[in-house]
Amino acid sequence: MLHIALAKGRIARTVFTRLQESGYVFPEYSKDSRKLIFTDEAGNLRVTLVKSPDIAVYVRRGAADAGIVGNDVLVEDEEQDVYELLDLGIGRCRMAVAGIQGHQDVMQKRILTVASKYPLIARKYFADRFQPIDIIKLNGSVELAPLVGLSDVIVDIVETGTTLKENGLEAFDYFMNFSARLICNKVAYKMKHEELNRFMEAVKE
Ligand code: PRP
Repeated sequence: MLHIALAKGRIARTVFTRLQESGYVFPEYSKDSRKLIFTDEAGNLRVTLVKSPDIAVYVRRGAADAGIVGNDVLVEDEEQDVYELLDLGIGRCRMAVAGIQGHQDVMQKRILTVASKYPLIARKYFADRFQPIDIIKLNGSVELAPLVGLSDVIVDIVETGTTLKENGLEAFDYFMNFSARLICNKVAYKMKHEELNRFMEAVKE
């Protein structure tokens, strides 16, 4: 049986749809279910739902053979050591520097306070521009930071732009493109090649 860790949320929902369209049957799956482990009826595939920054941990340690996660998380993760097998072309998003609408002049500050779930990516962006920053690592709802005076700007992914808009923020710059990737560990790559190929056929665009 192939064990796949899926990033919870938008990516997981799309992957389940593709699997079902390819003939996999998951009797217990519904998008509103709170279950975390699903096995297909034929007993070929076990899918676990994992928070995206943890996917590579599961794959690296062999708790999953493979995983599907946005490569924004993979770029931010220093301990790569996994194979990237496929770009699924879903979960497309961009990295943005954003702040309060109409307040782009904040970027001129001598030392910018930057809130982000992606401290490495954020540091590199500003280091490349010789802009000194003070970084605040957050774990979610990053858009709040400029609104409550925690930071001047944020560095975060933007997919539809709805979250920025609905919170009175705007992107001052966009600088990287991301999408969901299939990753696997070295053991699975050797020992479960056939199963991985079948899985790739089912989930690719
Ligand atoms: C991500 C991201 C933005 C939002 C962007 O957060 O951090 O907040 O999605 O999407 P949009 O451009 O389509 O509005 P996520 O939903 O993963 O939740 P989080 O803030 O808890 O990390």
